[in-house]
Amino acid sequence: MSSVNVKIAIAGIGTVGGGLLELIRKYKSSDIKINVTAVASRRKQKFHGQFLKNTLFFKDAKELLSFDDYDILVELIGGEGGVAKKIVFDALKKKKNVVTANKALVAKFWKELKSLEYKNKCVLKYEAAVAGGIPIIKVIEEFLLSNKIKRIYGILNGTSNYILSKMLSSNKEFKSILIDAQKLGYAESDPTFDIDGTDTAQKLSILSSLAFSFNNSANSIKNEGIDKIKLVDLKIAESLGYKIKLLGITEIDKKRIKNYVYPCLLSKDSFVAEVDDVYNGIVVESDYCKKSFFVGEGAGAYPTATSVLSDIVNLSKGKENNLSIYSQLKKYDSVTLEDRYGSFYLRFTTDDRSGVISGIAEQFKKYNISMKSMLQKEQTGNYTNNATIVITTHNCFERDMMKALKRINNLNFIREKTVYIRIEKFK
Ligand SMILES: NC(=O)c1ccc[n+]([C@@H]2O[C@H](COP(=O)([O-])OP(=O)(O)OC[C@H]3O[C@@H](n4cnc5c(N)ncnc54)[C@H](OP(=O)(O)O)[C@@H]3O)[C@@H](O)[C@H]2O)c1
Repeated sequence: MSSVNVKIAIAGIGTVGGGLLELIRKYKSSDIKINVTAVASRRKQKFHGQFLKNTLFFKDAKELLSFDDYDILVELIGGEGGVAKKIVFDALKKKKNVVTANKALVAKFWKELKSLEYKNKCVLKYEAAVAGGIPIIKVIEEFLLSNKIKRIYGILNGTSNYILSKMLSSNKEFKSILIDAQKLGYAESDPTFDIDGTDTAQKLSILSSLAFSFNNSANSIKNEGIDKIKLVDLKIAESLGYKIKLLGITEIDKKRIKNYVYPCLLSKDSFVAEVDDVYNGIVVESDYCKKSFFVGEGAGAYPTATSVLSDIVNLSKGKENNLSIYSQLKKYDSVTLEDRYGSFYLRFTTDDRSGVISGIAEQFKKYNISMKSMLQKEQTGNYTNNATIVITTHNCFERDMMKALKRINNLNFIREKTVYIRIEKFK
């Protein structure tokens, strides 16, 4: 193969952009020569390296709208709108290829972006948008081409995984670990999207759209985060043989797609339960490969930049042949969370007196909920008149559980709102 000279314009030199420049500087290939024709950086920075000696520098990425001397636009600014959206759509309209790490944009405008890509015969790549250091998009688009994917689930947000892991290992509550995570740079100054499940929902919508050729908007996924997870529940779950993880789950069931994002109990010996700290872990279940499991750093300058550079190199090699799935989009119904059929972990705080268990059991009976296990924990400190009762259930419908809990929470022996966490039985 003769050497290819590819021209790229990079917008946004922050964490990922900085990592990418470093990787490009060190990247040596006799096949591909990467020529950075322009860099848009709002902040004044010192750039190192001969490879940037002929590069144009823009103070605002907007200036790329009237710039044309590139084959690939690399968008590393972020955000579902604003300048990031403008330059990505503009580049695709100019029939340029685009590489981005922007999950918010890709999740929100997946269908529009795919449509432009298809019409203009150009390519948008976004390996870095989901689980930075795991090539999960390539696995779905390339490796599993001959397989039918049935389900994908996993830990897609390193910040929340770090917080849950550290709460248990350092015996501290959520808020205190969140502050530590911010100090260590594992959580942003505004960590809302990481901990409320939005970030996981955005990534899940991308995986689901790709796996099932269906536009699964992140907005249609009702996500729950980890902010209400208490240390006591992590500890009880551990004593019962479980870990609590924030999962994204997408699954096809005949003509219906389930997309769930919530923290859940997982058997300690299941694949993803063993993934701790800032790591991501993803399981893909397909017909011929059964279970494929991937672990890696989900974020950070270098893992994410590695994904970005691999997209740039693959595009340069002409490996992408614009087999856009836009032309093959399918129609499915979505399953709402109320339709979920699964089991629960429940923690009741009640008066310490007789009649409590039978009162709970009576409501369970009305809604076809059966108990699997029950234990009573001793209360310590100021609350010695209260009892803590932990129940796990067999499978039941979510809507029945919600109705039962509404009634139970109004019973006169209930002291605090009952805590419920779903249990998933993935191996
Ligand atoms: N960080 C990760 O580990 C990670 C992992 C996976 C995916 N991503 C995705 O990668 C993208 C970039 O993330 P990041 O962490 O690198 O963010 P970042 O550190 O905030 O970098 C973004 C950079 O873009 C610059 N910028 C903003 N508006 C601009 C404009 N109009 N013109 C030129 N530059 C502009 C910002 O400048 P200022 O400094 O002046 O604001 C900032 O330096 C996001 O889509 C993110 O979701 C990040």
